[in-house]
Amino acid sequence: MKLKILAVVGSTHADSVTRVVVLAVGEELRKAGCEVDLLDLSQEPLALFNPETAYGQPGFAGVKARVEQADVFILGTPDYHGSMSGALKNFLDHFWREFAGKLFATIVASHEKGLTVTDQLRTVARQCYAWSLPYGVAFADKQHVANGQIVNDSFQSRLGMFVRDTQVYGELLAQQRHADLAGADAGFMARLRK
Ligand SMILES: Cc1cc2nc3c(=O)[nH]c(=O)nc-3n(C[C@H](O)[C@H](O)[C@H](O)COP(=O)(O)O)c2cc1C
Repeated sequence: MKLKILAVVGSTHADSVTRVVVLAVGEELRKAGCEVDLLDLSQEPLALFNPETAYGQPGFAGVKARVEQADVFILGTPDYHGSMSGALKNFLDHFWREFAGKLFATIVASHEKGLTVTDQLRTVARQCYAWSLPYGVAFADKQHVANGQIVNDSFQSRLGMFVRDTQVYGELLAQQRHADLAGADAGFMARLRK
């Protein structure tokens, strides 16, 4: 079974550097044998989350099905005021059970290493019973990405590590999640059995 990845672009900026990196990572994961689905929130925006209306909005059911079938979420966002973009937070607010037992792998465009943004994404993962890689990748426009290209060798090699770890740990977690959903053991996934 191929590892299923949903790669989310959380910038609505037309010339987004986040998009450049998410696309590059998605391409490498595809070459490594993963099934990669791209959700670019600038192309497929979700309405501002309202718990009373969100689940009946046009387009929601399609996105939900894609989230449900994913094993791993690549979450890309610009640093906005030390936090994630509203577009990415809005996407995350629409789901939680669908994230449980799955892996978040995060990418942040920031001039300040994006540490607070990475931490906030890890907080969301924890709140939703998801796992996160023990590190995230962060980069700066012009220094690491310029003219739509990755231009920095050490960043490129960090992305190589990120792609490898996303696949390896994504597969381990997916295997365990499937076993826990199919089995009868106690564990945090037991409540999600159908
Ligand atoms: C509203 C807003 C807030 C921002 N806040 C920060 C910030 O707190 N720290 C930072 O390093 N960059 C900040 N930036 C800069 C963006 O993170 C940076 O330009 C990033 O590369 C944009 O990525 P994108 O092209 O993928 O949208 C901010 C940009 C905007 C528009």
